[in-house]
Amino acid sequence: MSYTSPICTDPTELYDLLAAMAEGLLNGETDSVSATANLSALIYDLLPDLNWAGFYRVKGDLLILGPFQGKPACNRIAKGKGVCGAAWQTDRAQIVPDVHQFPGHIACDGASNSELVIPIHDPSGRFCALLDLDSPLLGRFDASDLQGLLPVIGHLEKWMEATDVHSL
Ligand code: SME
Repeated sequence: MSYTSPICTDPTELYDLLAAMAEGLLNGETDSVSATANLSALIYDLLPDLNWAGFYRVKGDLLILGPFQGKPACNRIAKGKGVCGAAWQTDRAQIVPDVHQFPGHIACDGASNSELVIPIHDPSGRFCALLDLDSPLLGRFDASDLQGLLPVIGHLEKWMEATDVHSL
């Protein structure tokens, strides 16, 4: 799909820039709210055509809303519910070109038409959180977006290990 970021028009360069900036923002930080708040702001600011970007964290048997950019969203999501709950249940990224076709999709913002959810693992390899991106465009996300964002998730997971943070 075409990119209209004012910063960079080449998607590969844009994701390289995003990963480098994410690594820079994490460097020296030790607090998980501060770290993920800045990452959500960076992603929302840099990637075009998003209306929501943020984190949900595993707390007991629920996903709890974490730092994000966009409209207020549902606070709690059960395993298996919606796109986020499916990512948790399967421990797999979810690329949803049309959320209206996804059984059980949880509509937090009526403007959302497509969604990308990427699992995050703690230093023991357990699913501990996820990154959720929503777009008002149909088909906004494909495998190249997932590939582009995986280094950002990798930096966050390495940061957790290096700072001895075991949950977000
Ligand atoms: N649409 C998600 C819920 C979270 S919001 O998009 C921020 C879902 O179906 O799990």
